[in-house]
Amino acid sequence: MGRPTDVANDSLTVRDNRTGKTYTIPISDNAVSATGFKAISAPRKAGEREENETQKGLRVSDKGFLNTAVIQSEITYIDGDAGILRYRGYPIEQLATQSSFLETAYLLIYGVLPTKDQFTLFESEILHHGVVHAESEEFFRSFRYDAHPMAILTSAFAYLGSYYSEANPSLQGQSLFTKGDKASLANMDKQIFRLIGKATTFAAMAYRVRQGRDFVTPPTGLSYTASFLYQLDHLGQVDYAPSPVLAKALDVLFLLHADHELNASCTTVLQTASSLVDPYSAIAAGCASLYGPLHGGANEAVIRMLISIGSPANVPAFIEAVKRREKVLSGFGHRVYKTTDPRSYIIRKTADEVFKITGKDELLETAMALHDAAMNDEFFQKRKLYPNVDFWSGLIYRAMGFPLDFFPVLFVVPRVVGWLAHWRQMMLQQGGVKIWRPRQVYVGPSKRDYVSIDDRTDDKDAKKTPSAVPHSGISKRTRLASFKGKSKL
Ligand SMILES: CC(C)(COP(=O)(O)OP(=O)(O)OC[C@H]1O[C@@H](n2cnc3c(N)ncnc32)[C@H](O)[C@@H]1OP(=O)(O)O)[C@@H](O)C(=O)NCCC(=O)NCCS
Repeated sequence: MGRPTDVANDSLTVRDNRTGKTYTIPISDNAVSATGFKAISAPRKAGEREENETQKGLRVSDKGFLNTAVIQSEITYIDGDAGILRYRGYPIEQLATQSSFLETAYLLIYGVLPTKDQFTLFESEILHHGVVHAESEEFFRSFRYDAHPMAILTSAFAYLGSYYSEANPSLQGQSLFTKGDKASLANMDKQIFRLIGKATTFAAMAYRVRQGRDFVTPPTGLSYTASFLYQLDHLGQVDYAPSPVLAKALDVLFLLHADHELNASCTTVLQTASSLVDPYSAIAAGCASLYGPLHGGANEAVIRMLISIGSPANVPAFIEAVKRREKVLSGFGHRVYKTTDPRSYIIRKTADEVFKITGKDELLETAMALHDAAMNDEFFQKRKLYPNVDFWSGLIYRAMGFPLDFFPVLFVVPRVVGWLAHWRQMMLQQGGVKIWRPRQVYVGPSKRDYVSIDDRTDDKDAKKTPSAVPHSGISKRTRLASFKGKSKL
């Protein structure tokens, strides 16, 4: 929680050299409010663009949110220089060795470790909500045979929302989740149970549909991750029980991936939810953001990179290509961590447990050689590029037999928890929810008059002209055919 500010001492005094005026802006929790800078205005200089809006106050520019805090949060703390990650104050190392994914989910969402009774209820609600409407089978089957599972999953979360009008502020009133009363909290909890419960079901359905397999009703009596493995793999065998070693490894991996404060996808969820849209739409938006190769697609990119390198002997040449900016070393570097990602130590241990029963992945040696070469190279040291969580997680998932394009799905499932923890916190924050509407620095054309089509010239700038694109749906035979109707293909 923010502490009261001693304005006399906890403040920033700035002088605007354009006007000579001095301003004092309070510092609270080592942050200054960007709106504090809005009071700093100056008359527009001769020749200055009116779009700079100089008289309307100074803007704070931060492309890519490099130093902008957009929320007060009590959930996750990261010290990127020291390699520290804590959920609700508890070090990730303690949680990974002593807690479980679902217990940690409870902690992230509600802020405290549950008692036995609280945990039993929470776990049973999550598992109970794994079952999905029978119609959703048709939805999953409507995708083309080679659809990426992330395209399926992203759509599935939005689709899921269509079943729950009682969870839709557009239909029920905008204070549906922000009231904080008993009914509103219970409504929010129900959506949380549903989303976490169905995340594994949907992920398994996205997996099985591409294999032409029937779907599996979530089993009873298994843990969250064992149930997930069952739904992925069960083919009707009697008394089928997933490997406890793999279920445990997945549990640890899920726990490590459950939250990471305001990464791109969590920020996307909050940005989307700030319009007070329903949580299903917000989670779908988070899914889309996570899928990018700079975020959740990185562990898939790591494996593709390792395959392309081929063997340890080719590592030096690859490193040189990275340094020439021809390649990116996927799985290295992080916006926040400027040392080794603390999760990667735990993941390496988990990898050993998995490799003991699955056998070592053939890419492991290349990965180790790449890791060591990068760690000892000045290029990476100087830029503080160290292995992140994705460098190792892909190897475990591969050893477990998951297809490459399923890796981001294995990231989404646990991250739904983090997204929901932040969503709930946002809905309940003091002062209500303010829509996230950032500012821009407009650098486009100043006011100009419309030009009629006969008076326009083509400035031959490729970026200002739509490209001529090949029409792949048109066959060679059609190109050679003659017919009436549309003339140009
Ligand atoms: C994660 C990532 C997007 C962070 O980006 P960022 O905070 O904007 O960092 P920057 O892009 O400013 O990188 C700083 C410098 O390191 C270089 N760099 C960063 N990551 C690099 C990588 N993986 N390989 C090669 N060079 C890298 C940049 O080119 C830049 O060099 P420069 O200062 O000489 O121009 C970036 O490190 C990256 O692309 N990593 C690979 C993808 C990945 O593993 N993502 C998973 C994150 S959990």
